[in-house]
Amino acid sequence: MTSMDDLPIRDDLRGLSPYGAPQLDVPVKLNTNENPWPPPPMLVEDMSTSVLRAATRLNRYPDREATELRARLADYLGHGLDASRVWAANGSNEVLQHLLLAFGGPGRTALGFEPSYSMHRLIALSTGTAWVAAEQDIRHGLSSEAVERVRRTAPDLLFLCSPNNPTGVPLDTSLLAELVDAAPGMVVVDEAYAEFSSAPSALELLPGRPRLVVTRTMSKAFAFAGARVGYLAADPAVVDALHLVRLPYHLSALTQAAALAALRHTDDTLATVAKVRAERERLTVELRSRGHEVVDSDANFLLVGEFTDARAVWQGLVDHGVLVRDVGLAGWLRVTAGLPREGDAFLAALDEVVSGSEGGGARRH
Ligand SMILES: Cc1ncc(COP(=O)(O)O)c(C=O)c1O
Repeated sequence: MTSMDDLPIRDDLRGLSPYGAPQLDVPVKLNTNENPWPPPPMLVEDMSTSVLRAATRLNRYPDREATELRARLADYLGHGLDASRVWAANGSNEVLQHLLLAFGGPGRTALGFEPSYSMHRLIALSTGTAWVAAEQDIRHGLSSEAVERVRRTAPDLLFLCSPNNPTGVPLDTSLLAELVDAAPGMVVVDEAYAEFSSAPSALELLPGRPRLVVTRTMSKAFAFAGARVGYLAADPAVVDALHLVRLPYHLSALTQAAALAALRHTDDTLATVAKVRAERERLTVELRSRGHEVVDSDANFLLVGEFTDARAVWQGLVDHGVLVRDVGLAGWLRVTAGLPREGDAFLAALDEVVSGSEGGGARRH
């Protein structure tokens, strides 16, 4: 059998593993930080009509600029933004890829503070951008030491994440302002989980900072992960630069129609955010009352530890029909705040795994 290493694949891709949260068929899936509440029926109806209408015109290419979608996303974000300051693509992962294609590449460097969202590193590497990993505190996130680190490394791109995945810790805006001043290149703040957070958004800092970029997604709070829509807000010059690297017509007419319909029902969809936050708080209290460590989270997930063997606990939970995320952080597992009954199933399974022998070394420190 031919393996990819037998092919003339790029040298810098050899030995890399693809991103892959396991998609296991289990009853309780709390591993990819989706909104557990499906889109409301009125939205589904509106979307069906809109997509149907778009389907009658699929012989034509879509609006290459996705102008209306970008305008509606700008309206949603507020902060005086308009379509010229907003860019959209197939998931915020594609938005991140566009940023790396435009501002990274061979001979250039991106800096990130780990643990954080692993795709920052993987997309950097896939675009030939060198990745420099610094550290951040799991419980408290970045401190002013990060500013010095940014000055020393002088990266072409700096990746930040607020609230940070997988810890849920938000980034302080005054620290962010210092980081932007210290960074010679682009500064990307990934705010995929912003709607779940009560911390101020980096959007506040955009005026007068043309190297700052704030990325968002419709995959999380908008309950729209299956549709693949991500976006960013930045200076119009950044949006101009991204036009150079995007593929023509990258956002299909169906995606644009569906996303516009979703944006007409923002209030209904985002009403679920309060329920998710309540579930996050409930799980935090329940887990701590059982003696587990839980990082204070401002997102729709929790980092739970510290386990002697997190992998064994993960497997034990899967055996009980509950899928959480092993983010490769020794001692810790990440769990999404889902439906209350899913949270109950998770807590019951964790109790059994930790107290029983099936977790093989699952005792807490
Ligand atoms: C921090 C962060 N950024 C970006 C993404 C990508 O989201 P999407 O491509 O679905 O917009 C995720 C998904 O889990 C994430 O956790």
